[in-house]
Amino acid sequence: MRIVKSIDGIRALVREARAAGETIGFVPTMGALHAGHAALIDQARAGADFLIVSIFVNPLQFDREDDYQRYAKNLPADAALCESRGVDAIFAPEAAEMYPGSQRTHVDVERVTDRLCGQFRPGHFRGVSTVVTKLFNIVQPDKAYFGEKDAQQLAVVRRMAADLNMPVEIVPVPTVREADGLALSSRNVRLTAEERRAAPALYRALLAVANAIEGGACDPERAKAEGLAVLAGEPLIRSEYLEIVDVEDMQPVASVRGPVLVAGAAWVGSTRLIDNVRIEPIAGSQPAGAAVGDTMIRRGFRNQTSTSNEV
Ligand code: PAF
Repeated sequence: MRIVKSIDGIRALVREARAAGETIGFVPTMGALHAGHAALIDQARAGADFLIVSIFVNPLQFDREDDYQRYAKNLPADAALCESRGVDAIFAPEAAEMYPGSQRTHVDVERVTDRLCGQFRPGHFRGVSTVVTKLFNIVQPDKAYFGEKDAQQLAVVRRMAADLNMPVEIVPVPTVREADGLALSSRNVRLTAEERRAAPALYRALLAVANAIEGGACDPERAKAEGLAVLAGEPLIRSEYLEIVDVEDMQPVASVRGPVLVAGAAWVGSTRLIDNVRIEPIAGSQPAGAAVGDTMIRRGFRNQTSTSNEV
């Protein structure tokens, strides 16, 4: 496995792989790799010949300087994980390599970024879509893999790739969870023991909303109230948002009918966590007059300690 810090260096490796007739798989990350990233890498490894993982903490997508400064960095540990999973090359540029001068060109995806995290983290998605565009231009992958935990990011990248005719397939990878339901995140290491105990309440809140929908609640406000009650019962958690949105444009739905995303963000102490659950109709099973609960099902996830695909 090669670790490359320069744009010219990674381009040379891509050229060699292409000359050998290989397809390029790409997993963009900010490092601090965990089992969730391992799932991305494993899926990418199976889907392409030459696999590149980028590790770059992108300053452009942080709305708070302190969050950027304390983002965990551990290249040796990340490299060991990548090596163990058959990655061919890591692209780990310094900020000066990616942004040598002032960045005057940005990519903005409209509407998909209005709500949820976009509403609370000004400039975040502009930073993400700009760096992902730059990375795609550098690596020129056939397939790029993004986690479903960052569902709005996935929707933004998909829309950007479609709107800008980027020749890359965006592949979603299911969220990996701890046994108690907490979605794996590089930010989890910041939680104190008490906060870690409280953190799964975010997922429980999403499940409460999902249960309400599966039980027939078409009114989003009624379903959301169930989740907000769960969060209110956990004093260490401060809810930022809890929304039921359309899976593509991330706008709140007036009534729950088709596939929706139940998405939440919450602060646990000084750590911000996000999570989501997707609910969709069971294909072809819509008997006349059926309650929503008869026809809606949660999409599965992969538990860190099991291979079960069921919630
Ligand atoms: O999801 C992440 O780790 C980042 O947002 C990404 C996609 C690598 C862009 O910096």
